[in-house]
Amino acid sequence: MDIQFDSGRDFVRKPRLADGTMRFGIFWPYHRSPVPSEMLLKRNPSVLDLDAHIRLAKAVEAAGVDFGLIADGYAPGSDAATEVEFQDPRANAILWPIPIFLNTRTLGLASTIHTSYVHPVLTARFAGYLDYLSGGRWGWNIVNGFRDAEARLFGFDKLPDHDASYDMADEYLSVVQQLWQGEPIDHQGKNFKVNGKLARPQPGSQPLLVSASSSPRGQQFAARYCDYLFTVVLGEEVWPQLRANLRKYAEEAGRAAPPEVLVMGDFLVRDRAGEAADLYDTIMSTRHVEAQKIWSNTKQPLHKGKVKEAEPLRLVGTTREVADTILSLRDRIGLSGLLLRMPLWNASEGERIGPVLDILEKEGVWKRPADRGHSW
Ligand SMILES: Cc1cc2nc3c(=O)[nH]c(=O)nc-3n(C[C@H](O)[C@H](O)[C@H](O)COP(=O)(O)O)c2cc1C
Repeated sequence: MDIQFDSGRDFVRKPRLADGTMRFGIFWPYHRSPVPSEMLLKRNPSVLDLDAHIRLAKAVEAAGVDFGLIADGYAPGSDAATEVEFQDPRANAILWPIPIFLNTRTLGLASTIHTSYVHPVLTARFAGYLDYLSGGRWGWNIVNGFRDAEARLFGFDKLPDHDASYDMADEYLSVVQQLWQGEPIDHQGKNFKVNGKLARPQPGSQPLLVSASSSPRGQQFAARYCDYLFTVVLGEEVWPQLRANLRKYAEEAGRAAPPEVLVMGDFLVRDRAGEAADLYDTIMSTRHVEAQKIWSNTKQPLHKGKVKEAEPLRLVGTTREVADTILSLRDRIGLSGLLLRMPLWNASEGERIGPVLDILEKEGVWKRPADRGHSW
């Protein structure tokens, strides 16, 4: 695919470069209260406060963050969750990047789009515009949909079978990739029939592909097609098996290298020893018990019953302590990608990331985006 159009703005197209150094993203605030809590309801901005998002985006871009990933879902979790603005209201992962892109230059953003609910022609088309509007900084977080309420919202009696929905995602991605070529296609598949040609703009190069999944079938999907697997790793002992699976599935698909793995970490840094941990513990101890239940009520829980192991990594402490935690994980499990979730999200929390990255740069595990072509 050639770059067909230029928006005339001074944006930096982001190539994917597997250079072995770490990548840092933001698990973008898509609701007010990243964990359901009265305290966060009071302290965080409304998720619909556009200026707060733009300030955060500028702060993390300046700090050296590579990208944000915006999770998404269509239905509120529960009345109790809505009470603390947990998952409702929420940012829309397809539309929300646009104002952020127009106010940044190098920051990437990946939108979550569901293969079970959004027609592939629409996704192919959104991608063309998002790539154009961002100057090549857009990525797609591919999910297949796992919530019953969402399936009902779209008129399905129940969720599709787990593995069948990955088979459908295989077909879906193939349709989208064909449409991105800008040529007429005639696809007559099990789930989709698409005949014709999609109007331009097409993406100038294949957008970054992320798969958010945790099962072996999800790993296989990620290893076949994606640059990153965004996953939950249930305990450190699971890493070798995960990497072996990804290598095997990538080999079977004829790919030279498996996708990198992204995991989530709760990021909270304060200057004084103990201060961040105290604050984090207070946030966690004031979690809204009823709202929290939406996870245990989900039919296919991401934590597979191991709720504690599935909690995000704790990147909580002073700048030095958080950098040391990351360095130690890099040593022990080869950690290469982190999505930072900020329980308190605002520009000044984002500015705390820069000094951590400075240490990682000195230790040789991270390079400034400008020194590696702003690559994903
Ligand atoms: C880390 C992670 C993030 C996810 N984010 C989303 C999301 O934003 N929206 C969504 O509908 N599903 C999301 N999912 C759900 C997956 O797309 C998938 O439907 C679910 O995990 C079941 O597949 P699995 O058994 O392969 O994990 C996420 C899953 C994981 C592991």
